[in-house]
Amino acid sequence: MEYTVMLPAAGSGRRMGAGENKLFLPLGGLPILIRTLGVFERDPACRQIILAVRSDERGRIRGMLSGAGITKVTAMPDGGQERQDSVHACVRAFMEAGGQDDSVVMVHDAARPFISPKVIGELAATAAEHGAAIAAVRAKDTVKQVRDGLVQSTPDREELWLVQTPQAFRAGLLAEAESRAEADGFLGTDESMLVERSGHPVRIVESTYDNVKMTTKEDLAIGEVLLKRLEEEKE
Ligand code: CTP
Ligand code: MG
Repeated sequence: MEYTVMLPAAGSGRRMGAGENKLFLPLGGLPILIRTLGVFERDPACRQIILAVRSDERGRIRGMLSGAGITKVTAMPDGGQERQDSVHACVRAFMEAGGQDDSVVMVHDAARPFISPKVIGELAATAAEHGAAIAAVRAKDTVKQVRDGLVQSTPDREELWLVQTPQAFRAGLLAEAESRAEADGFLGTDESMLVERSGHPVRIVESTYDNVKMTTKEDLAIGEVLLKRLEEEKE
């Protein structure tokens, strides 16, 4: 199933503490951003990549794309203050370029280079059929709801899933959910929340625990280990 991917890449990487956008940091010698882009560049089902960037980083990123042979980026809109604003900028760019309501788009954090191509395929197929599908893994730990240091409740672990990206949607459904969120001043922590608010059911696609978001220095160390394992598997 063909799809467009939207990659928000306009963060500052505060928690990584690198003093610059963490996506420029190397992972196995290549910038994190290029590793994530490479997954989609190599996937024949990915028609185009829309990349939200900080305007002061656009030139540097353009240079990186051509240096790395990334050819599928069709638009690089300015990102916004919040991640949701950056995704919204991608959706607008997609629609302005004549994107169709029933085509499949997926939103994926540029900071998750270890997404599996198999999961991407399942997400695209599920979103095409049902409208909305998100990558998630089962919770391994017991999760508590806590307020002021006191445990309030313990949700049944069997029903708990930890949500990642990609999150895939029919484009019209996502665009409408985003407009509604904007009109209501609602800020979600993922795209699914916006679609859930609009009442459309969202399906889970089981992902892998490898699909970690490079957030802090510890994640970079985990990333190096994952890369080694992937390279060994290829041999
Ligand atoms: N992102 C974005 N625009 C923002 C904030 C985040 O495009 N205003 C992107 C980041 O570049 C990243 C993804 O959203 O690819 C996930 O966000 P996160 O991991 O939180 O990255 P940062 O916001 O850069 O990191 P931090 O929260 O530690 O500052
Ligand atoms: Mg952030």
